[in-house]
Amino acid sequence: MHDFHYKGKELFCEDVRIADIVEKTGTPCYVYSHNTLVDHFTKIQRAFADINPLICFAMKSNDNLAVLKTLINAGAGFDIVSVGELRKALLAGADPKKIVFASVGKTEEEIVFAIKKGILLFNVESLPELDEINRIAGKHKKTVKVALRINPDVEAPTYSQVVTGTLKNKFGIDLNTAQKIMKQTKKYAHIRFSGLHVHIGSQITTGEPFVEAIQRVIRFQEKLKKTGLELEYLDIGGGLGIIYKDEQPQTAARFAENVLPLLKQTGLKIIMEPGRFISGNAGIFVTRVLYLKDNGVKKFLIVDGGMNDLMRPTLYGSYHEIVPLIKKAGRRLKMDVVGPICESGDFFAKDRLLPALKKNDLIALLGAGAYCSVMSSNYNMRGNVPIAFVKGKKFDLSRIRQTFDDLVKDERIPAFLN
Ligand code: LLP
Repeated sequence: MHDFHYKGKELFCEDVRIADIVEKTGTPCYVYSHNTLVDHFTKIQRAFADINPLICFAMKSNDNLAVLKTLINAGAGFDIVSVGELRKALLAGADPKKIVFASVGKTEEEIVFAIKKGILLFNVESLPELDEINRIAGKHKKTVKVALRINPDVEAPTYSQVVTGTLKNKFGIDLNTAQKIMKQTKKYAHIRFSGLHVHIGSQITTGEPFVEAIQRVIRFQEKLKKTGLELEYLDIGGGLGIIYKDEQPQTAARFAENVLPLLKQTGLKIIMEPGRFISGNAGIFVTRVLYLKDNGVKKFLIVDGGMNDLMRPTLYGSYHEIVPLIKKAGRRLKMDVVGPICESGDFFAKDRLLPALKKNDLIALLGAGAYCSVMSSNYNMRGNVPIAFVKGKKFDLSRIRQTFDDLVKDERIPAFLN
């Protein structure tokens, strides 16, 4: 479900006409739907109500303050990956006791900051990282809770750039090493071994890889239990796929059916880290047609948004549905939808069938709530675009457009060049 729909011929977000938003923001811009975020969050909460998990939204998928605040109000915690994300979550009002921190490259500065803020768990990704956290915690006279992120060596069927759960990937700790660590927990005076974590990848549409990975981690947990080591948490990561085109992903309810029996048997407090499932369909990207070009071989629809604003199509070959803000009847034509950037990789769609559009028409890329604005850059000296946040009949800007001054304010010309 998402709350972007036509009323008559015009595209709306909840009860707001998107054309009215664009009048205020200009183009390109992102539009986010409050109700869609809450609806998806609630779907997971309901499906897993039996075990009342802690749902830590993966804020790497969308870290806009309005999104974070909406999810905090709904009861979410956060899965973070940097001190910047931690600070932003706290700025939005997050409870540090609902924050888990995974990253293969946590720096001393990040570890110290997270210890001082009292986050719930460090999801530890290597033996040297564990040594480092133990040393730093000791220096600050603290004991910190960690979960070992297990690399279960399970390959999930998705695009290669987002597979994380095999031993060819940099993530997590292999089971042999994890076993060795757990045999010498006493060595780590400032660590409390509180849990296990597993995250095998993103945009996974079937249940089997999740079941397989969770089973492997539970087998490991059972072995630990026999040696007298009792844990508190099992963090099963994120990765639930959504519909961009014709995928048939498992619903939250189906996912729960698949994994709940396994999770219940552990007796542990379950943590989940969905990102895309909550934010993916809660955002769209709106861009304006600048030119139409036909070179005899191909037609190009040239728009004012570029790969710097939304890079998933060029980076992963991802599909985003494209719809006009005003419905158009009539013949559809095959065209490439491209931006103004100086690269052939600057496209949103190739050979896409679209209605006959003309200069100044507005189009929207759907499914642009996860891993879109967060991955944008200032390439070609283009500022970040505004974000409008809609709730019911209301909307407001939750990010304003970056100006030229914003873009140059951190740069200096060295004196010796003058
Ligand atoms: N937990 C951890 C430890 C993660 O690394 C991730 C995503 C998640 C949770 C959330 O996964 P999700 O539920 O959103 O699938 N930029 C790529 C996706 C990268 C995913 C990174 N990690 C894309 O645009 O498809």
